[in-house]
Amino acid sequence: MNIAVAGKGGTGKTTFTSLLTRTLIKNGETPILAVDADANANLNEALGMDIYTTITKLLNDFKEMKGRPPGGMDKASYVEYQLKSSIVEEKDVDLLVMGGPTGPGCYCYPNDLLKGFLSDLSDNYPYVLLDNEAGLEHLSRRTTQDIDILFVISDASARGIRSAGRVKDIVEDIKLNIDQLYLIITKAPDNVTEALGDEIEKTGLEMAGTIPHDPKVAEYDLHGNPLVELPDDSLAVKAVEEIVGKTILAD
Ligand SMILES: Nc1ncnc2c1ncn2[C@@H]1O[C@H](COP(=O)(O)OP(=O)(O)O)[C@@H](O)[C@H]1O
Ligand SMILES: [Mg+2]
Repeated sequence: MNIAVAGKGGTGKTTFTSLLTRTLIKNGETPILAVDADANANLNEALGMDIYTTITKLLNDFKEMKGRPPGGMDKASYVEYQLKSSIVEEKDVDLLVMGGPTGPGCYCYPNDLLKGFLSDLSDNYPYVLLDNEAGLEHLSRRTTQDIDILFVISDASARGIRSAGRVKDIVEDIKLNIDQLYLIITKAPDNVTEALGDEIEKTGLEMAGTIPHDPKVAEYDLHGNPLVELPDDSLAVKAVEEIVGKTILAD
């Protein structure tokens, strides 16, 4: 299953992605490939993992490389080898970080290799989770295959919900193949679905649920602790478990 998370910056995408990871691990739905597709990568911190390089860095290095790769390797095997070694591996989760945008010039060759690599790689995991940035830059470059579920994350405001509705427009404009689209409202007060009912309806997005403001999330982020380590009684953890049960794990 390819699951993508999108929405404006600061809405709670990375928080949701890490708690989604936590829920899947708890249900034995592993191994998971987590892909940080935000230019300002920080999913690794929420997952408590150390990163060493990004795909963008590798593509840049490769583009600047003159002559033959070391060790008598051909170029394709060399790029593949580098891409493979950029994956951070842990027991249940492997992490790949896309990094910032690539520079000017043609990246077609390494991008094509990257595409092939990602599509082969994702075959090894029952779940691939993509933490995206607002403009769906990574998805629009088509480095990822079809998406089974896209969760659009919004804060609890009318403007936020309208912005989530525009993510749906982007998806349609760039003709992404997405099976199911859901809206999630984060840091949400109790009455949010009533208060924002009209706005939600206008987006045409189906609500997957709400995640309340959770003081424990704030506390963990304040101290830089990984969110995957939040306790079972955390409000956000419970809300995400409910959402996952109704969507990904529903049958
Ligand atoms: N349910 C929540 N309760 C409290 N704070 C939250 C919650 N979700 C996110 N936050 C806070 O909001 C900020 C942005 O969250 P983050 O997940 O990094 O957003 P994004 O990845 O969309 O930019 C962080 O400071 C985080 O602690
Ligand atoms: Mg983020």
